[in-house]
Amino acid sequence: MTQRQFAIVTGASSGIGYALAECCAEDGFDLLIAADDPGIVNAAARLREHGGTVDAVQADLATAAGIDRLQAAIQGRAVDALLANAGHGLGHAFLDQDFVQVRHVIDTNITGTLDLIHRVGRMMQVRRAGRILITGSIAGLQPGSFQAVYNGSKAFIDSFALALRNELKDSGVTVSCLMPGPTETEFFERADMLDTRLAQKKKDDPAHVARVGFDAMMKGEGDVVSGWKNKLQAAMDAITPAALLAERHRRVARPGSARH
Ligand SMILES: NC(=O)c1ccc[n+]([C@@H]2O[C@H](COP(=O)([O-])OP(=O)(O)OC[C@H]3O[C@@H](n4cnc5c(N)ncnc54)[C@H](OP(=O)(O)O)[C@@H]3O)[C@@H](O)[C@H]2O)c1
Repeated sequence: MTQRQFAIVTGASSGIGYALAECCAEDGFDLLIAADDPGIVNAAARLREHGGTVDAVQADLATAAGIDRLQAAIQGRAVDALLANAGHGLGHAFLDQDFVQVRHVIDTNITGTLDLIHRVGRMMQVRRAGRILITGSIAGLQPGSFQAVYNGSKAFIDSFALALRNELKDSGVTVSCLMPGPTETEFFERADMLDTRLAQKKKDDPAHVARVGFDAMMKGEGDVVSGWKNKLQAAMDAITPAALLAERHRRVARPGSARH
């Protein structure tokens, strides 16, 4: 009997992460999933309906202690796929934001993500096998006025993913970066951005976005932008002056912009 593959998915209690975990479960992976609130236990119960083993860890992945807890739950198993997806945004002007929350965005989206990839990536490197999918964003291509720290964190992640992919190109470990555009999840509510034009516009289906990312990971592709509108947007962003991008972001992300 062939052994079932094993995947870790972070931020799997809702949105894109839950849908990524579903892709893994449908494809026959056993799962270790993580998120910060107790919703992760319900997510695990739903994912078990696909037939595999699903372990859930409730941990704040912005902290080293949270990453320790997730690592302990691996229990020595070989990790075939790591889907580092946990992340959150934070709306409003930078100087109006609470710095504790600013730090939490950076610690979740960058530090915790890298800490986990560093630990699991080393294990994959020893085995000369493994797949890593990192959820970046097309937000990383734009200076994000009124969501400046989040967009900056995703610029870091988009860049980091492609650099790590290059470093590991002959190692048997692949790195793929999923770059979604605005997607229908809890993201905008959590970032306190519901009164922005960005939050009000029609958004992509998380199941579709996750499928694009999962397929890219399985094929070992590099960066993948989900959806043709986002691909077009990404291509235009690459040739638009940064100051213009910042001004355009201001119009859609400024608090209250949905009403004007
Ligand atoms: N929605 C979009 O428009 C969009 C676009 C591009 C990229 N993305 C990226 O997609 C990823 C998933 O976001 P989503 O849109 O699916 O939003 P979501 O529905 O809010 O899901 C975010 C997930 O990440 C988890 N999470 C956040 N901070 C965490 C922490 N410190 N420790 C542990 N878990 C944490 C959340 O769990 P808890 O609720 O338990 O904290 C939840 O499971 C993020 O990296 C986001 O930046 C989203």
